[in-house]
Amino acid sequence: MPWRRTREPYPVWLSEVMLQQTQVATARPYYDAFLARFPTLASLARARAGEVLEAWAGLGYYRRARHLHEAARTVMREHAGRVPDDPEAFGGLPGVGRYTTGAVLSICFDRPLPVLDGNVARVLSRLFAISAAIREPRGARRLWALAGTLVPMRRPGDWNQAVMELGATVCTPRAPACGRCPVRSVCRARCLGRVADFPRGAPGRAPETVRRAVALIVRRGRVLMERREGVLLAGLWEPPGVALVNGAAPARALRTALARLGLRARLTPAGRTVRHAITHRAIVAQVWHGAPVGPTPRTARLRWVDPQRPGVPLTALARELTRRPLAAPTTHKETI
Ligand code: ADE
Repeated sequence: MPWRRTREPYPVWLSEVMLQQTQVATARPYYDAFLARFPTLASLARARAGEVLEAWAGLGYYRRARHLHEAARTVMREHAGRVPDDPEAFGGLPGVGRYTTGAVLSICFDRPLPVLDGNVARVLSRLFAISAAIREPRGARRLWALAGTLVPMRRPGDWNQAVMELGATVCTPRAPACGRCPVRSVCRARCLGRVADFPRGAPGRAPETVRRAVALIVRRGRVLMERREGVLLAGLWEPPGVALVNGAAPARALRTALARLGLRARLTPAGRTVRHAITHRAIVAQVWHGAPVGPTPRTARLRWVDPQRPGVPLTALARELTRRPLAAPTTHKETI
């Protein structure tokens, strides 16, 4: 893993932000591309928000990118361009919580601070046979305290990374590989023969299904896209669409949504549905082909985008929709 080859705070910080809620295999190409584009904290601080989002597009949880960008600017402005090694100062930066503080400061500055993520929580709850659930405040407090008592003064970053990796590769949620676990002889859950009982499962939330209709309007290999506004995925681009609430008729709802953008188009069903999972939503988007009637309005919210070289950050749904060849129903999973 490239982030293991350095103790420079910026790349380590970037990797830890990317690895929250994203698996190593997914994050890695984004990590390499992001660093190639913004090799230093100073270059990240100078970038425009849209460029940063573009480099992040597809990783999900876009707030992480916005926060990292803001934090880079704060470090340049208030800390003379040096990432602070003090937990209060570093933890005060935008988007930097207890996990990121522990990870970056232990790895880069040998600060004996703990980390707690899902992997660490699972390892600790099995090792000590405790039923604390990380998703519950009481459980999280207990696990953080326990993690804090275990971090060694020497090479705390190695310790933290080793525990995270043990959870990711050996002490996995289902079918843990206890036979090759280096701490199996001191694992309380294993000694009790109750590995499967830990961690106690926290009730999950069933995803909510959201139906959408989207208009695929194509001209000379370019697809008409709209810049999203509002809370979710703001600043990312995708073909114009509309949420279908309470059994709304798709063509009519879509025509109304297009009219709000000053667009008129003849719509025909593409006979294609794209499924897309984001955090707690399952989006089922019906695709319609749109043939524009009259000129496209000149507005900053609309743009003809070449899907091969977008130049703007696209949502994962947009990339799925414009993937060639236009294929049968597919599912794409992402978290925001
Ligand atoms: N997961 C997130 N960050 C990690 C790290 N530094 N090492 C191992 N697993 C991780």
